[in-house]
Amino acid sequence: MKTLIIYTSQTGFTKKYAQWLGERMQAEVIDLKEAKRRDSGFYQGFDAIAFGSWVLGGKAVKSEWFLEKAPTWRGKKLAQFMVGAMPADAPEIATFLDNALNEEQKQYIKAFFCQGGLDYTKMKFPYKQMMKAFSSMTAKKAVTDDEKKMAEMIASNYDESDIKFIEPIIAYLEGGE
Ligand SMILES: Cc1cc2nc3c(=O)[nH]c(=O)nc-3n(C[C@H](O)[C@H](O)[C@H](O)COP(=O)(O)O)c2cc1C
Repeated sequence: MKTLIIYTSQTGFTKKYAQWLGERMQAEVIDLKEAKRRDSGFYQGFDAIAFGSWVLGGKAVKSEWFLEKAPTWRGKKLAQFMVGAMPADAPEIATFLDNALNEEQKQYIKAFFCQGGLDYTKMKFPYKQMMKAFSSMTAKKAVTDDEKKMAEMIASNYDESDIKFIEPIIAYLEGGE
C-alpha cells in the first residue's frame, strides 16, 4: 500500500507525528508547502493519504486545504490527524473530533486527535502572545484543582507526544473497510 503523509507544523509536534507515521507505514512524508506544489497526478499514485496539522483556537490549521482536496481523492483511505495541547482524555475531544468534519466528509474521512505539547521557544511572535494571553486568563479563572493544574501546565513548555497516538490512525489507514 502506498501512503502519503502531509503535515504542517509550527513547533515540531505535528512533524514528529508525521515522521512516526512515515517510518511505521513506510510512507512518503511531505510538508504542506511541498504538497501545494504537486499536481493532481502525483496524488493518484497513493492508496491512502493522511493530513496532519496543529490545533489553534479549537480548529485544525489549514484543514480547509485538505478538505477541499479530499473529494477528489475519494476511493482512497483518508485521515485527518490533529495535534493539540489539550489532554487526549479531555471531555471536549469527542466534540472537537465530531465538529472537525461534516456528515458528508465523515463518510470518507476519519478524524484523529494526537496530544502534542507546548513549545513557547518555537512559536511565532503573534501566536506566542496569543498563547501567553490564554495561559494567564486560564490561571486567573482557575478555581478547581484540575483547572489550577491545567493553568500551571500551559504556563510553560511541555511535551506529551506519544507514539501510541498513531496506532488508531495506522489501523484505520491499513484497515480493509
Ligand atoms: C495561539 C495558539 C492557540 C492554540 N490553541 C489550541 C487549542 O485550541 N487546542 C489545543 O489543544 N491546543 C492549542 N494550541 C496548542 C498547539 O496546538 C500545540 O502546541 C501543538 O502541539 C502544536 O503543534 P506543532 O508543534 O506541530 O505546531 C494552541 C497553540 C497556540 C500557539
